[in-house]
Amino acid sequence: MTQTDDSSLASRAVAPGRFITFEGIDGAGKSSVIAWFAERLRAHGLDAVSTREPGGVPFAEALRQMMLHDAMRPETETLLAFAARAEHLAQKIEPALAAGRWVLCDRFTDSTFAYQGAGRGVDWATLESLERFVHPQRQPDRTYLFDLPPEEAARRRAAVRAADRFEAQDVAFFQRVRDGYLRRRQAAPDRIRLIDAGADPEAVRRQLADDLRSLGIR
Ligand code: TYD
Repeated sequence: MTQTDDSSLASRAVAPGRFITFEGIDGAGKSSVIAWFAERLRAHGLDAVSTREPGGVPFAEALRQMMLHDAMRPETETLLAFAARAEHLAQKIEPALAAGRWVLCDRFTDSTFAYQGAGRGVDWATLESLERFVHPQRQPDRTYLFDLPPEEAARRRAAVRAADRFEAQDVAFFQRVRDGYLRRRQAAPDRIRLIDAGADPEAVRRQLADDLRSLGIR
């Protein structure tokens, strides 16, 4: 093989994709922003795949139905969240990243710490060991935490549709969830960027666009 062949092979090597997650209490408004974010990446010629947790692949979507609608213990919720995640990672997230795609995920492991940990009272250290068990090598490259007072989030949710098991919780539950997110952020301030979700949609998008520049996207 000639020198030229070697370098053309190297230039064809796949650049790793980026794993971006979006977090926040129900009603913080992250879903519509994810669609905008994906468009923005595509406009830069990047291949972006949008997905969600719990869910993203049929097996995990089946577990999502149970988590959102069936009565169960907090321990069960925790194990279902991680079981769904293990398959989602293996079947979708890791292959996409290996192929150089950007993965935009609506919720990931920070949700389990916030909802099952801070919200339901599942022991933090147990969650940390499940996190190490299910994805020892993988963390999001960036996490956007949509932060909003729980009272305002409740007002927004009420305007939209019937509540599932989580959305039906009271303001005190969502206050704990919010505090759980902020605790996670304290441990990983470089990864988790706080987004003021109380701002108008235009201002929310501007906050993300500013941060995207630090990821090399203008
Ligand atoms: P959500 O992402 O808000 O979807 P939608 O906008 O369709 O309602 O709903 C998922 C719910 O699942 C949300 O209330 C948080 C909860 N959840 C957990 O409790 N633990 C987890 O690990 C994950 C990923 C989600």
